[in-house]
Amino acid sequence: MEYGKFPAYRPRRMRATETMRRYIRETELSAKDFIYPLFVKPGIGLRDEIPSMPGVYQVSIDMLEAEMRELAGLGVTSVLLFGIPSRKDECGSEAYDDHGIVQEAVRAIRAKAPAMTVITDVCMCEYTSHGHCGKLDGNGDVDNDATLEWLAAEAVSHAKAGAHMVAPSDMMDGRVGFIRAALDAADFANVGIMSYSTKYASGFYGPFRDAADSAPSFGDRRSYQMDPANAEEGVRESALDIAEGADMVMVKPALPYLDVLSRVKTELRFPTVAYNVSGEYSMVKAAAANGWIDERRVVLELLTSIKRAGADMIITYHAKEAARWLAEEASCLE
Ligand code: PBG
Repeated sequence: MEYGKFPAYRPRRMRATETMRRYIRETELSAKDFIYPLFVKPGIGLRDEIPSMPGVYQVSIDMLEAEMRELAGLGVTSVLLFGIPSRKDECGSEAYDDHGIVQEAVRAIRAKAPAMTVITDVCMCEYTSHGHCGKLDGNGDVDNDATLEWLAAEAVSHAKAGAHMVAPSDMMDGRVGFIRAALDAADFANVGIMSYSTKYASGFYGPFRDAADSAPSFGDRRSYQMDPANAEEGVRESALDIAEGADMVMVKPALPYLDVLSRVKTELRFPTVAYNVSGEYSMVKAAAANGWIDERRVVLELLTSIKRAGADMIITYHAKEAARWLAEEASCLE
């Protein structure tokens, strides 16, 4: 046998058995990595499936306790709340109403499930009659600085209800600093900010806008959300929010932007969240329903890839199923 004829290092050796593969596994997905988005609406006894998002429901407040029990049983310990208000108006007034749908949902969860960490989406688009993320100026564009007042009022109102963190998703300039100052002034220095810092103007939000009834009635969001062509600007947006006091930054959507996620994480070294959005979820569900892909395998591969790219936490509609599958895999190895 001639020395050097064959490779000395054979990567296949470490792939031979599951135990060997585990020795060199770099990324381990866990239910603790997930944040589960929840749509809350007025009413009693409601749990309505969203047609474009099979397996995801709009629920009424009285159904939240059961929902929290299910999540806790699966090891998922945080939720991100979205509200479907009973009324919409020009100025999105239910967004900052202390008895709005999200505020009441936060109170209910904090009372019934004290171990759950509650994060609230802070934005105007679900609450305004025109569906834009803030106050309109005379030209039909969103007035940045006037919108900051609304967002800060909404954030403080969520904090008063008991939110652990607020998550501004509007993409107005300067909102993290403005909200931070408002929370501090209202004695909520301990309430954190998870900023939707690097959020693209994406076609992947379509099913969410059905779910939250938040599609803009005219135009689009390109004057405030980011151009999908930009990665450098994506890093800059997250850096700005860190400077303004964000506790976590975010890249959204996840899968088409893993390069941006990786750069945000490695260049800024800050807690980073990825939002695996509605359209990403619906694509997987549609292909799986047709028998074109193995859903379990694909979902776990996707979520592992998002974590490998740099996410500390993943907001995902797949959270419950993925947590169930991960628990099954863990019990099979024992
Ligand atoms: C609110 C908001 C949106 C999403 C989260 N917060 C929609 C949008 O910006 O149009 C999208 C989430 C998803 O698609 O799952 N601004």
